[in-house]
Amino acid sequence: MISFNINGKSATVSAESDTPLLWAIREHLQLTGTKYGCGAGLCGACTVHINGKAVRSCQAALSDADGTEVTTIEGLSPDKSHALQKAWIAEQVPQCGYCQSGQIMKAAELLQDNPDPSRDQIVAHMNGNICRCGTYTRIIAAIQRAAKEG
Ligand code: FES
Ligand code: FES
Repeated sequence: MISFNINGKSATVSAESDTPLLWAIREHLQLTGTKYGCGAGLCGACTVHINGKAVRSCQAALSDADGTEVTTIEGLSPDKSHALQKAWIAEQVPQCGYCQSGQIMKAAELLQDNPDPSRDQIVAHMNGNICRCGTYTRIIAAIQRAAKEG
């Protein structure tokens, strides 16, 4: 049994400690906004925050979450009012949408640590979050908008 806080609520998951955190989030806690992409740490679709740091939940063990604060896309804001969520809508970023919760969670880490990033800093930070639909230009524009309007 592993207990942690997720999106402001306490949760206990009964599973092997080496279960991928992504499985616990999607299957045990039924929070399906976090996506399974590659399962190998290569795409970023599964990005969540543990204690404010972006992690690839397919590569984190359930035991890594023990006693921590986990945030998923569902918990980024109570009413979808996070500056990034508003900017994502304004810039019409998603195409198929599959990668986008991971993109937003990765971007949220950036703005938390650096509220006014340069374009180069945005590109460097987001490098490694893959979008098969190629929405990179709009992702950058949305992060810039969120930083400005945040
Ligand atoms: S599903 Fe975790 S990095 Fe691709
Ligand atoms: S919007 Fe389709 S993979 Fe990114």
